[in-house]
Amino acid sequence: MKFFIDTANLDQIREAHNMGVLDGVTTNPSLMAKEGISGHENVAKHYKSICEITEGDVSAEVISTSFDEMVAEGETLVKLHPQIVVKVPMIKDGVKAIKYFTSKGIKTNCTLVFSAGQALLAAKAGATYVSPFIGRLDDVSTDGLTLIEDIRLIYDNYGYTTQILAASVRHPMHIVNCAKLGADVITAPLSAIVALLKHPLTDNGLAQFLADHAKASEKIA
Ligand code: E4P
Repeated sequence: MKFFIDTANLDQIREAHNMGVLDGVTTNPSLMAKEGISGHENVAKHYKSICEITEGDVSAEVISTSFDEMVAEGETLVKLHPQIVVKVPMIKDGVKAIKYFTSKGIKTNCTLVFSAGQALLAAKAGATYVSPFIGRLDDVSTDGLTLIEDIRLIYDNYGYTTQILAASVRHPMHIVNCAKLGADVITAPLSAIVALLKHPLTDNGLAQFLADHAKASEKIA
């Protein structure tokens, strides 16, 4: 399973990259705004900086919502760097834009997916990635993981190659459960990725090993 980080924060992207587990990055307009990035030039510069940190795919989301504008925006975004994937919302013109980008060999990430039907449409349009938002479904008392399971079943039934990119991941168990269900990719905040490391028995065990080693070394000296 691939690990993407869901942030536009360069320090966090660097930290995940330096851990050696980063396969790519996803951003969205809210995450870019959180970093104070606005205006065409700054946005373009920021995407290029992200691409310099990771060797993987970097999702850059379009702001427009009409077919013509999404196509123009996406074509500008992909010219920034070969790692850019155009992130397109799951709306009627978005599906049409994904079909267009696919026909041009441009990678896409279909975002804001909350149902199996939407994921089916994204695959039929040829999306490279589909992003089901599991945390936001959990927030409204709907099991986000069931959606991952349903999409996996549908895609396997027909051999769709669209990769399931589990998004809106909030905690380490989301990541583990997505791995069990066969998601191709998760995109998560750094906190959820780092939390995978943690187990009290690891910390206690390491402290004991180091203490025993120190005692044994004292005896020899
Ligand atoms: C997906 O690509 C989105 O950027 C993201 O996962 C949304 O997560 P949130 O629900 O935590 O905002």
